[in-house]
Amino acid sequence: MKSTEIRAAIVGFGGIARSHKRAYDELRQAGFPISLVAICDIDPEQFKKAQVINIDGNPKCDISAQRLYTGLDDMLKNEDFDMADICLPSYLHRDYAIRLLRAGKHVLCEKPMALSSADCEVMLRTARECGRELMVGQCLRFEPLYLFFKDAIDNNTFGKVRGAYFSRLSGPPHWGFEGWYRDTSLSGGAIMDLHIHDVDMVRFLFGEPEAVSAISYDTFVRWAVINSRFIYGGGRIIVADASWDEAKSTKFSMSYRVRFEQATVKLEGGKVTVYPESDSPYTPELPEANRMTEQLRTFATAVLEGGGNTKNPPESAMLTVRLVEKLRESADRGGAAVTV
Ligand SMILES: NC(=O)c1ccc[n+]([C@@H]2O[C@H](COP(=O)([O-])OP(=O)(O)OC[C@H]3O[C@@H](n4cnc5c(N)ncnc54)[C@H](O)[C@@H]3O)[C@@H](O)[C@H]2O)c1
Repeated sequence: MKSTEIRAAIVGFGGIARSHKRAYDELRQAGFPISLVAICDIDPEQFKKAQVINIDGNPKCDISAQRLYTGLDDMLKNEDFDMADICLPSYLHRDYAIRLLRAGKHVLCEKPMALSSADCEVMLRTARECGRELMVGQCLRFEPLYLFFKDAIDNNTFGKVRGAYFSRLSGPPHWGFEGWYRDTSLSGGAIMDLHIHDVDMVRFLFGEPEAVSAISYDTFVRWAVINSRFIYGGGRIIVADASWDEAKSTKFSMSYRVRFEQATVKLEGGKVTVYPESDSPYTPELPEANRMTEQLRTFATAVLEGGGNTKNPPESAMLTVRLVEKLRESADRGGAAVTV
């Protein structure tokens, strides 16, 4: 790193980019040496929406301090920045990451890393060749609600895990640039877009399974609803489901339930509750951290200090995409077990 302050640029300023913008604001306010200098989006209307949008508790997304571009080439020609933050539709991740890495930028790229593990491998190779940091926004790895679960495993707080169930449910995604979520070839369906969060979390918590099996059905996209089983030794039951087929009137929800030897722990309605074997249930106190801010802090620290990041390495994000491919293979074979 040549400078001690990281200059960043966001590429793609749709829905999730607003949460990323908030992360830059929070880090800067906390004195972290990072500055968001520019934003690029092919659709200039997105810059106007920035002033009124209210996503993720961000009351107003103020982009008056950023220079705005409608094309990447123009931004690359006119801006000097160290890292690019890719918030583009998933079908553009591979090509834009490669262009930006080759232009000498460090790249933070939204999940899924790419739509195939082969594409992920090209991204990994390019990052290595260019000597630049690459990280994928598997943001649950920075979410206190899930880190509580991870810490309980690592510290053996409630004994071993006997079984865990993860869920992520949504109505059909009617949002997004030119309807890209609703096209399997552009989004990969709910299995690649939504379920991938829990697939990554299962790997983060329990490591690589021996095999997987899944059943699914299609709606307007392939693999719109998925129920997956992750097979580890020792008889543990680890399952996860995801849906883009909930009634339109439902709200997005994410949850888990884990049976430890000495307690059941549930994430429901945005709150973790511990149900001890022989005591009253309680709500643990969790850090107030914003997962997007912690994700950005981890990436920016890796850029400043060099040497990669161990919390969320891109090699692991690639393996998560590969595991989704195995689940897809199982679903297409009627739920047959597929060796990992
Ligand atoms: N981490 C999470 O929890 C999370 C949540 C939502 C979305 N995502 C991921 O973030 C990515 C973006 O999702 P989104 O919901 O914000 O999508 P979106 O469609 O709302 O936003 C994408 C933006 O990219 C712009 N764009 C399209 N083509 C472009 C191009 N060639 N150059 C510049 N800009 C271009 C569009 O105009 C749009 O504003 C996806 O990969 C999605 O899977 C992650």
